[in-house]
Amino acid sequence: MNNTVYYDSPVSDDVRRRRLYDGQLFVYSPRPSTTAFIAFARSMIEEAFEGLDPRTAQKNMPVERYAELLGKLKPAFIHHPESKRHLQNIFNEFDCDLSKTYFDVPRMRSSTSDGYLTTGIAFAWHPHRDTWYSAPGCQINWWLPIYEIESDNAMAFHPRYWNQPIKNSSAGYNYYNWNKLHRGQSVTKIIKEDPRPLPRATEEIELDPQIRIICPPGGMILFSAAHLHSSVPNTSGLTRFSIDFRTINLEDAVARKGSANIDAACTGTVMRDFLRGSDFSRLPDDVVALYDDETVKTGELIYDPNRA
Ligand SMILES: [Fe+2]
Repeated sequence: MNNTVYYDSPVSDDVRRRRLYDGQLFVYSPRPSTTAFIAFARSMIEEAFEGLDPRTAQKNMPVERYAELLGKLKPAFIHHPESKRHLQNIFNEFDCDLSKTYFDVPRMRSSTSDGYLTTGIAFAWHPHRDTWYSAPGCQINWWLPIYEIESDNAMAFHPRYWNQPIKNSSAGYNYYNWNKLHRGQSVTKIIKEDPRPLPRATEEIELDPQIRIICPPGGMILFSAAHLHSSVPNTSGLTRFSIDFRTINLEDAVARKGSANIDAACTGTVMRDFLRGSDFSRLPDDVVALYDDETVKTGELIYDPNRA
């Protein structure tokens, strides 16, 4: 049963992964590596906003200009070589073996208040499991706030669905086609309605009970890719800025360990996006092949490890 939030748990990475695969949550206080990472992120954000407080800048800027600013800031953060170095430091400090831990590039996210901008570059996530988007059951998600967060601009987990399948549209989602469709397309222009065919629940979701973990800036939340989670509709008056990235442990991937798939029907796999912590090499082809399906042959194999 998934019923536990481990706070600053001293368990090893091996034990932690087992518990995450069972649907438990882990939360950690800020550590030197995460504090350094958010200081780096803050410096980029504050430079981009040119003196405006990033959390209230939405009140002083036309939405088009705001989207344009984020459209430059976020890819710059994702592609910055420093971002990868910070992740290495974080994995070391969190007891992950760099030679077996694979990661995808860290994304910077923003959640504006009161529906100012909730599409495209500032997409507001409906309740979803990452496993609906071609993530394997052994994927672990890491999430940390860059500034203070509050209950009404946080992220929510919906634990009652851990063991309960949800009717969803993931069968229509193929990772390679999705990348092909969006190659070269600027999400900055998507201000009103988002045309991206992202899988979602096709039945009514009961959002409560839900868990919102409020940790300080640089605090870290870890959860399984199979957990149903969503962006809380932001009514705080402040824009939330956060970072998230994902990891896969090589041994678990080879042994097909991870959370059980109870309702994902998507095709393709995100496995090619992952880079090894020690040297940024990709997962071995034979390991990726364990997670692939026939669409790898029929479709055009397009993936982008640096996608925004
Ligand atoms: Fe997600």
